[in-house]
Amino acid sequence: MTSATVTPLKFPEGSKIDFGATVSNVDIENLTDADFAIIRSALFQHQVLIFKNQSHVSPRAQFELTNRFDPSATSYGHGTAPLSTKARSILHPDLKTIPHQPQVQVIGNGHIAAYEGLENITLRHPHHRTFHATAIPASDDLTHTRFYRWHIDAALYGLAPPIVTTLLAVRVPSGRLQTVRYDDGTGDTLAVPLGTTAFVSGYAMYERLPPASQAFARTTRVEYAPHPYVWMAAARSRPDGLGLVSEGRELAEADLPGGVDPAKVQVLPMCWRNPEDGRLALQVHPSAVRRLHLGDGTVVEDLEEVRRIVHGLQRGGIAPERVYAHDWEEGDFVLFHNRGTLHSVVGAFAEDEVRLFRQCNVAATEFPLGPLAEGAVAA
Ligand SMILES: [Fe+2]
Repeated sequence: MTSATVTPLKFPEGSKIDFGATVSNVDIENLTDADFAIIRSALFQHQVLIFKNQSHVSPRAQFELTNRFDPSATSYGHGTAPLSTKARSILHPDLKTIPHQPQVQVIGNGHIAAYEGLENITLRHPHHRTFHATAIPASDDLTHTRFYRWHIDAALYGLAPPIVTTLLAVRVPSGRLQTVRYDDGTGDTLAVPLGTTAFVSGYAMYERLPPASQAFARTTRVEYAPHPYVWMAAARSRPDGLGLVSEGRELAEADLPGGVDPAKVQVLPMCWRNPEDGRLALQVHPSAVRRLHLGDGTVVEDLEEVRRIVHGLQRGGIAPERVYAHDWEEGDFVLFHNRGTLHSVVGAFAEDEVRLFRQCNVAATEFPLGPLAEGAVAA
């Protein structure tokens, strides 16, 4: 028996957001099989699920719900890289591991005296000026911001992309609005709550494409750079956070830590198939892309060209009317489908604005499903 209820989010007229739902009447700390069946089905239908008032949820229960989507998976989504790799990765400074639940990470901003066995830690919300090729002038920095980096949570080397990620908002600084600027010549902007997490649907990103581009996306496979977060450490982002500019700053393969194990290099379908309803999501981590393998056997090697193609396919999917910018309140527990959405950190905090979140995902045991062979009929 379950009394869980799922309520799709409602958006103002003009919005093209067609995902997201609130889930109520479930006890994450003591989840039943019947509750989980509702949650699983809702997740693959709505992609982003919001559970309100969950401050009491333990790191263990957070891990257990995350892990329930793939029960034999155990390691954190980015694995446990040796320190030599971590120190050079762009992800390293942003994560602190909870000692008694190592699949759960603490992220945020500011100084925390003690939390779940971590003591005297300083968290830093990533600021776009550390990653983008250009930055919003300091005089506008509190009112204007950028999407930091659109991404999928995935190591993309060795480990398979996690199916879901969970986020718990433990402490949230009081809200003010900021305006995201795309700064890509379109004039696009989006008003967002401070420190929002922005989500877009990979399904909408695919479905909005013209038929020829959909056919290209269905038949193309994406090769990711080995050790992508080290490889890209000196590279810089486009102003819309959707992939990198090409300035030749990527590390040469010979300079990557431990060299390259060809068995770990990932070549994944450009479209990932929803395991429940068969819909296709355009799922590409735009910053980590290295090569494209086209349906006719051609390999697109030129990095600038690879990025131009991927950006052309993805950009419409992050248009302002398609972005769900979650307005975090303390106790919000968000479960999102990492194989059907892209997300981005947003915003800039002042030093004294303390934010504390817990994040969990686990590397999957299987790789995502690709499109069915052209002409095949789904069973
Ligand atoms: Fe993420």
